[in-house]
Amino acid sequence: MGPIMGTTVELTIEKLVAGGDGLAFNDGIAVFVPMTIPGERVLVELEEYRKDWVRGNVLEILEASPDRIGPACPYFGSCGGCNLQHVDYRRQLELKAAIVEESWKRVGKVDAPGFSVVASVPYAYRSRMQFHVDDEGRIGFMRGSSSLPEPVETCPVAVEPIRTWIERMASSGKSRLPMSPWTQPGARFMVFSPERSGDRVFIEGRDGDVTAQVRGRPMRFHVKGFFQSNLYLFDLLVAAATSDLGGGHALDLYCGVGPFASFLADSFESVTAVEHDPFAVEYARMNAGGRGEFLAQSAEDWTTSDSAKSRFDAVVCDPPRSGLSERVRSWFREAKPPVVSYVSCDPVTCARDVGDLVRSGYSIDWMKVFDFYPQTSHVELCVRLVAGI
Ligand SMILES: C[S@@+](CC[C@H](N)C(=O)[O-])C[C@H]1O[C@@H](n2cnc3c(N)ncnc32)[C@H](O)[C@@H]1O
Repeated sequence: MGPIMGTTVELTIEKLVAGGDGLAFNDGIAVFVPMTIPGERVLVELEEYRKDWVRGNVLEILEASPDRIGPACPYFGSCGGCNLQHVDYRRQLELKAAIVEESWKRVGKVDAPGFSVVASVPYAYRSRMQFHVDDEGRIGFMRGSSSLPEPVETCPVAVEPIRTWIERMASSGKSRLPMSPWTQPGARFMVFSPERSGDRVFIEGRDGDVTAQVRGRPMRFHVKGFFQSNLYLFDLLVAAATSDLGGGHALDLYCGVGPFASFLADSFESVTAVEHDPFAVEYARMNAGGRGEFLAQSAEDWTTSDSAKSRFDAVVCDPPRSGLSERVRSWFREAKPPVVSYVSCDPVTCARDVGDLVRSGYSIDWMKVFDFYPQTSHVELCVRLVAGI
């Protein structure tokens, strides 16, 4: 029989796991406790019992970690956007490195190569955010504990133009948006600012194209489409993923609006870029100045196309959080492109895929981890793999 729900227990947090929860054990059963820090002794109410683990809620911090700090945001704990604001930023970087290493061992069954986590500015970094509209027409972010929005009147992780926009809406009594189809209760919309200061904010439903600079090069995209949200570190990620690559033919798999393809086109004779969103592909073609072949199809369908039979000298792949599907992994095993830069926003699926590539003959040259999302447990990784001879 499992533990009784509602029971309170004293636990010591052993480590943070992917997703950012603290892990402790109660009578040998794993208990996941949000907003804790390794080493802390906490009084926990056992809340939700699953097959072989329990979710716990902290009632009291009995012995606080020296790394515990007061959160900068009044919504911390209720807004689902950040889950590490209670941890000193330096310690956040160490804890995230430990999460990456653990994922590689447990899921990838490979040792992570030596790496450090490249820090960001810890606040005022986020250029792209999704807002939700609540029943009263107020804007906010999704709560951590439910699928309801938490209305907000500020956000310290937003770049200054977005934070100022939120605060201006609230102080002028306009946090209730003018009614339009995209601001009805229950609606959600993207906001992007290409600047770190100033007041230029692009809003889905009101605005269209945005131009952001990546390594000094303009990248155009639609405000509702995908673009990286930490422009401070994106330059470094693009530089790392494309570093020391050059030659005949490159592939940018999951190219989005083409930031990697655009730079690969500088050092390769030809570039093929694949992306399933046809609108993004149009922007990618434009952003690369038409240099390359841009294919609007899923990576899975592409693997059985004639294009996939070409010889690629290098591949940059940047899949969504779910990582590479079995069909795409199987293409890598058979095509064996000599060099792969695997960019990922999820250490767990990245570890699974890299483990698979290593067992099919690749070796890991290096890994860089970028703290794209300070105050949250998320990171961005770039792994360079080299095919064995
Ligand atoms: C993490 S984003 C990377 C985009 C781009 N590399 C960038 O940095 O801006 C992943 C991209 O993969 C696309 N995508 C998701 N699933 C896909 C699939 N099965 N086949 C092709 N593209 C896919 C998404 O539309 C998105 O543009």
